Amino acid sequence: MKSIPLPKQKNLRADCAWVIYQILEQGRSSRDVLAKVQRRHNAKDNAWIQEMALGVLRQVPLLQSWLRTLLDRPLKGDKKAIEHLIMLGLYQLTFTRVSEHAAVAETVNAASYLGGIKLKGLVNAILRNFTRQQLASRPIDDPVIQSGMPKWLFKLIHQHYPDNAADILLNSNQPAPLWLRVNKQKATLAAFCESLDALNISYSCPASHPDAVILTNRHDVTTLPGFNQGWFAVQDGAAQYAAAFLAPQPGERILDCCAAPGGKTGHIIEYCGDIAECVALDADDSRLARVKENMARLGHRPTVLCADASAPDTWWDGTYFDRILLDAPCSATGVIRRHPDIRWLRKPADIQALTTLQSQIFDAMWSILKPGGTLIYATCSILPSENSGQVAQFLSRHQDATLQPLKQNETETAPGWQILPGEQQMDGFYYARLVKSTGQE
Ligand SMILES: C[S@@+](CC[C@H](N)C(=O)[O-])C[C@H]1O[C@@H](n2cnc3c(N)ncnc32)[C@H](O)[C@@H]1O
Repeated sequence: MKSIPLPKQKNLRADCAWVIYQILEQGRSSRDVLAKVQRRHNAKDNAWIQEMALGVLRQVPLLQSWLRTLLDRPLKGDKKAIEHLIMLGLYQLTFTRVSEHAAVAETVNAASYLGGIKLKGLVNAILRNFTRQQLASRPIDDPVIQSGMPKWLFKLIHQHYPDNAADILLNSNQPAPLWLRVNKQKATLAAFCESLDALNISYSCPASHPDAVILTNRHDVTTLPGFNQGWFAVQDGAAQYAAAFLAPQPGERILDCCAAPGGKTGHIIEYCGDIAECVALDADDSRLARVKENMARLGHRPTVLCADASAPDTWWDGTYFDRILLDAPCSATGVIRRHPDIRWLRKPADIQALTTLQSQIFDAMWSILKPGGTLIYATCSILPSENSGQVAQFLSRHQDATLQPLKQNETETAPGWQILPGEQQMDGFYYARLVKSTGQE
């Protein structure tokens, strides 16, 4: 489908509909398209656009079912974005405190900015019919519509988690809490908490995470105490386990082989101040720019390398690594609550391609790990084919690999620790720890 350009003139609802159109019809990430429209709005309007766009993405099946009931024929070509504008109108009328008058009038007005001046009457009629027919109060029987997920993912979650599917789906639609990790090379947890207390910012410190603070309310993190001085990083609780599981030791050479944007690289360096070197490698140059930016703010100096982890012969210097973190490219099905667009951007065929790439990187990393060394395999996926299935196959290919359990009941056929979305306020995440034989055991 031909892409519709960003409206020439800015308009809150037209820009928001354009964002939704770009994600759903053009497969672009919310991060990229939001950045594009947010350049031309103030902070308050940007927050509104983001909240509405992400809210619509959580309710696409429901909004589309209403759209199909109310619209005789689908809109096509350069009028397609008007459908997304109508969905935004329906969302405002159902899920927000925007007044009915403003939701209808402003949404109708926005149609002109999207080249739909002649469709203003249609938009108006649909939104008014929606309220008149009270469609929002009709019960929804279809569980896929209730879940807000695409059908294939809904089925996959039920197939793999028959007992937890309802919780996973529910938690994947809840906004995620804001977790911070205190950079212990710059501040103590107590000192950081004192600075939050001084500003009456409420928070909790989970006993399970020695460096973590969870803020009770949303905040612009750049305005929190010590942001510019690198006192903390934003990092979910599940991701904060990586450094402890890797357990870097003084004098060691560590590789973080899929490092961007550097969340775990920073924690590895903070975890053990005396490592010899931390190499932060990633195949994506633009994402590595974010590693550099984040590390500079935190005051860390990893070796940053743009390279393909699946082909070490193109970049490896021949010195084995003591420990490797492989935070693999994955479906990101564990972090849908933070990135509601993922459910629409991922397609079933992506999963097979990802598992192939993961196993290639896995084997390549094993070849450059020192005998006796530790490799942590991690993903932010909840799909067994990327996690326990991936690690079980790896163990069957590598006789010199031993699973070192992170929790009880882990076996070579059911390896690793699967964290489900929302568990102890964390993202969905997976970890497995493998140790390479020295050949002398
Ligand atoms: C899950 S993200 C890593 C997140 C990161 N560890 C953190 O905590 O901030 C996966 C990363 O793998 C990178 N990647 C994908 N294929 C790669 C490859 N063949 N070699 C190296 N990096 C790759 C992607 O660019 C992406 O940045």
